[in-house]
Amino acid sequence: RCHTQCLDLLGLCLLLVTAPGSQGQSCPSHCDCVPQRKVVICQNKHLSSFPNGVSADTRLLDLRGNSLRWVEHDNLAALVYLEELDLSENLISVLEPNAFSSLLNLRVLRLRANQLKLVPMGAFSHLANLTTLDLSGNKLVILLDFTFQDLHNLRHLEVGDNDLVYISNKAFLGLVGLRELTIERCNLTSISGQALSYLRGLVTLRLCYLSIASLEEQNFRKLGGLRGLEIDHWPFLEYISPHSFQGLNLSWLTITNTNITMIPTSALRNLIHLARLDLSYNPISVLESWSLHDLIRLKELHLVGTRLVSVQPYGLGGLQQIRLLNLSNNGLVTLEESAFHSVSTLELLRVDGNPLSCDCRLLWILQRRKTLGFGGRPPVCTTPMEVRGRALSAFADATLLDHFTCQRPKIRNRKLQQLSAREGQAVSFLCHAEGEPTPVIFWISPQRRRITTKSVGRVTVLPEGTLEIRYAQVTDSGTYICIASNAGGNDTYFATLTVSGLPLDAALAANRTYYMGDLNDTNQNDTHVFLKFTLDLKTILVSTAMGCITFLGVVLFCFLLLFVWSRGRGQHKNNFSVEYSFRKVDGPATSGGQGGARKFNMKMI
Ligand SMILES: *[C@@H]1O[C@H](CO)[C@@H](O)[C@H](O)[C@H]1NC(C)=O
Ligand SMILES: *[C@@H]1O[C@H](CO)[C@@H](O)[C@H](O)[C@H]1NC(C)=O
Ligand SMILES: *[C@@H]1O[C@H](CO)[C@@H](O)[C@H](O)[C@H]1NC(C)=O
Ligand SMILES: *[C@@H]1O[C@H](CO)[C@@H](O)[C@H](O)[C@H]1NC(C)=O
Ligand SMILES: *[C@@H]1O[C@H](CO)[C@@H](O)[C@H](O)[C@H]1NC(C)=O
Ligand SMILES: *[C@@H]1O[C@H](CO)[C@@H](O)[C@H](O)[C@H]1NC(C)=O
Ligand SMILES: *[C@@H]1O[C@H](CO)[C@@H](O)[C@H](O)[C@H]1NC(C)=O
Ligand SMILES: *[C@@H]1O[C@H](CO)[C@@H](O)[C@H](O)[C@H]1NC(C)=O
Ligand SMILES: *[C@@H]1O[C@H](CO)[C@@H](O)[C@H](O)[C@H]1NC(C)=O
Repeated sequence: RCHTQCLDLLGLCLLLVTAPGSQGQSCPSHCDCVPQRKVVICQNKHLSSFPNGVSADTRLLDLRGNSLRWVEHDNLAALVYLEELDLSENLISVLEPNAFSSLLNLRVLRLRANQLKLVPMGAFSHLANLTTLDLSGNKLVILLDFTFQDLHNLRHLEVGDNDLVYISNKAFLGLVGLRELTIERCNLTSISGQALSYLRGLVTLRLCYLSIASLEEQNFRKLGGLRGLEIDHWPFLEYISPHSFQGLNLSWLTITNTNITMIPTSALRNLIHLARLDLSYNPISVLESWSLHDLIRLKELHLVGTRLVSVQPYGLGGLQQIRLLNLSNNGLVTLEESAFHSVSTLELLRVDGNPLSCDCRLLWILQRRKTLGFGGRPPVCTTPMEVRGRALSAFADATLLDHFTCQRPKIRNRKLQQLSAREGQAVSFLCHAEGEPTPVIFWISPQRRRITTKSVGRVTVLPEGTLEIRYAQVTDSGTYICIASNAGGNDTYFATLTVSGLPLDAALAANRTYYMGDLNDTNQNDTHVFLKFTLDLKTILVSTAMGCITFLGVVLFCFLLLFVWSRGRGQHKNNFSVEYSFRKVDGPATSGGQGGARKFNMKMI
């Protein structure tokens, strides 16, 4: 546009310098000509038909902003040297099938903002030298098969801002040179993978303001050369199929202003060369652990304005090269270091516009505030009250430990909870904890499974920490451990349950089968959780005090008897020995040389 305006100005100047009428053979009336450069400019001249007398050797003809209604073959047939034709902002509604067919040297054709409803087949035939075609802002409803089939050298095609409802499967056939395609503001409800499959040379594809509800499998599978894909303003998009991006090797991907609520983890799986990902302005409230784990080369991640409230531990797991993280304008209370694969690669972090709580969880940012960039918008504390509104960069080193602290959880009301219940009854154990930040409470079952507020089924944890067991079963008996933890540490607490089995009536039996085996926690890998907790003395004492582990009780009772007995015999106070003889096995396979008794020394506590 700038180019033509410059020429326009130049034309006007020349026109003023050279006396009107003295400019030789043919410049149409109302038009400005620059004969040396073979330019004819008739912009905004209220022309309702093609001007007469355009010199046959014209290279550039600008008819923008007139009132032309159609283009016929005869209008242009003589202009075989034309390289650039601008027909934008006219009222053209009809193109003759071979309207441009004599313009073999045409490079640029602009038909923006006209009234075209249909491009007839053959309208662009023979235009093998065309590199730019602008059809945006018309009223096109459908792109027919073979419309562009001769345009092998087309690099830029604009078809945005039409009423397109359908792109025929072979519409893009022949566009092997197309590098960039933008389809926007039209009423397409699907994009056919076959239509796109002809665009072998495509590098950038922008699909904006469309009403498509889902991205289907393999829509883009033939676009191996595509480097950038933008999907913007698809308000109905809710589903991205796991194989949507199969066959692509993108370096950047933008999916913004849609209705997706989750990171499309499996769809992103094969994009291992992705360097920039923008998922801003989607209603994604949680960045789940490892949800981007295959994007090992990702350098930039934008999740701006997504109503994000939590970044889980390892939410950025796998992003080994992340440099820029933009989480502006979300609902994050904190961003813990444990969310990152490694923060050492991070250069720029935007977490402004979040209700941040300035406690020990943000210390890692403070420690790096001299080297980490904030893009001019440092994070600002929202809580606690006394530092509200202060930027993280404004704290003096000496005061850090006064502010950025956490308070370890403390479980309140620690009286022993020991319940007996009959099979089928509902049971609940309280566990309320205080701490700063608010502790997360979960329970460990006697079978060493982790029970959280997310556990579904018969056994679950209520939001305030109460363990709830519906339809208790004998196998539920045992010690339950409540764990309250926050960034400051954790606190534990024990409760025991004894369920007595009673004869079941048929209905209860049916209910029991229905609720069988549902201690599964779908969100956690819980196999090893319990092993992290050492069953220390306290645990054992508490357990036995509550008399739940009857077997252990019996063993201890025996020990006690032995102890009393051994004291009576005047032996060592704290030691006693048990002699245990292995049964002698005949033959050379007998282990050990001594063959006889083994001694076990036990220390009484
Ligand atoms: C494209 O333009 C060149 C000159 O610029 C010309 O020689 C050639 O014939 C044109 N191609 C076609 C297919 O007309
Ligand atoms: C396309 O959508 C726009 C706005 O939603 C509407 O005004 C227009 O009539 C639609 N066009 C067609 C062809 O459906
Ligand atoms: C987006 O999703 C929400 C809930 O899933 C739904 O209520 C809303 O209507 C959707 N918006 C659009 C534009 O489809
Ligand atoms: C994918 O793209 C990267 C550059 O972004 C390139 O190095 C790599 O070779 C490409 N892989 C394939 C299979 O084309
Ligand atoms: C982060 O997102 C905001 C909001 O979209 C934008 O203004 C800003 O430029 C982004 N920052 C960077 C470094 O990209
Ligand atoms: C509880 O705290 C201890 C040390 O304070 C730590 O070793 C342990 O991993 C924590 N457990 C949980 C589940 O956070
Ligand atoms: C069995 O379970 C259902 C709920 O799933 C409940 O409505 C019904 O009362 C239960 N029956 C008995 C006998 O507990
Ligand atoms: C619990 O998990 C096991 C194995 O992980 C599975 O076989 C079983 O169906 C699950 N039970 C429920 C109720 O989800
Ligand atoms: C749980 O984690 C352990 C190691 O931490 C791993 O070996 C195991 O495969 C995981 N189980 C599941 C179901 O993911």
